[in-house]
Amino acid sequence: MTKIQFFDTTLRDGEQTPGVSFSTEEKVAIALQLEKWGVDVIEAGFPASSRESFRAVEEIAKVATKMSVTGLARLVKHDIDQAFEALKEAKFPQIHVFIATSPIHMEYKLKMTPDEVIASIKEHVSYAREKFEIVQFSPEDATRSEKDFLLKAVQTAVDAGASVINIPDTVGYSNPQEYGELFRYLIENVQTDREIIYSSHCHDDLGMAVSNALSAIKNGSRRVEGTINGLGERAGNTALEEVAVALKIRQDYYGQETQINLKETKNTSDLISRFSGISVPKNKAVVGGNAFAHESGIHQDGFLKNPNTYEIITPEMVGVAQSSLPLGKLSGRHAFKEKLKELGYTLSEEEVKEAFIRFKDLADKKNNISDTDLRALLTGQTIEKAK
Ligand code: KIV
Ligand code: ZN
Repeated sequence: MTKIQFFDTTLRDGEQTPGVSFSTEEKVAIALQLEKWGVDVIEAGFPASSRESFRAVEEIAKVATKMSVTGLARLVKHDIDQAFEALKEAKFPQIHVFIATSPIHMEYKLKMTPDEVIASIKEHVSYAREKFEIVQFSPEDATRSEKDFLLKAVQTAVDAGASVINIPDTVGYSNPQEYGELFRYLIENVQTDREIIYSSHCHDDLGMAVSNALSAIKNGSRRVEGTINGLGERAGNTALEEVAVALKIRQDYYGQETQINLKETKNTSDLISRFSGISVPKNKAVVGGNAFAHESGIHQDGFLKNPNTYEIITPEMVGVAQSSLPLGKLSGRHAFKEKLKELGYTLSEEEVKEAFIRFKDLADKKNNISDTDLRALLTGQTIEKAK
């Protein structure tokens, strides 16, 4: 079984979320939690972009003991020098350099010809390789680049010493089939004697970031980039916690291992949500508040007979205390009875039947029935019986 490397960019691409800005202290705390979660590589920032970003990368480089620390750099010597300086104390440093390769980015943003882009890749990847053992190269907007030109750009980077090739779906334009095929195409056509790691980097504009990343893995990618809670520009990045759980649950299909400590998933998600101020939607996969909640009577009944009927992930697996069976208008008698037991009531069948009717009446009027509501309902029943 091969291993998928997890590359977390919550502190770089994730911080590009509008309105999100982590302090250096928060970044260090997040980095330590990500190390506990088990990421292989953390992109601690973009050192040349600001003094604060430089300092954060420097501080994280000092405290990371197991994971590799990387910094982003444009294909500009100054950026590469800044990354080198910021990562001086890292135990396992690497650099991530990028330049756009799509026609629209080259013409309008970079104002460079394709030949100039190729020349820059050759010069700057070689320069980065003089300073770093591991150089990751990203052809930005790869999925809107012309395939032949993308291959030429990647081949140039590999020839200049890059050992990780990251294929960004910068604007979330691709789909699982197409993105997977792109990995196959590059893996089959790039010529080299060295081992190259192909990495995915997806954005969620069309809601396919996680699916695209998984398709890349199915097609030979051995590194996945993303963020916790899918934080990031616009609709965000690949939610790494979802990929980690998908690889675990569907090991039969993907056949891959990771070094992610899944039990730290919820803690990691909570920390990032707290520091970013971006709350996790209730219905979000894996870490959403409803991810382990079953409300309808049929589901609750099945769950109580065997949790596997409606749960493919156990809450314990990802560090969530337990599943819940919230009581609402669709809930059935089985879950209602279990709840009464949990609250310490022992009622006869007749009493349960009576209480259940009253509960249903209340649930028609009120969305969430709390324990307090239930106690009040049962107290009412007791009082009425006493009259
Ligand atoms: O989305 C993107 O293209 C990026 C690159 C810098 C890798 O974040
Ligand atoms: Zn990105």
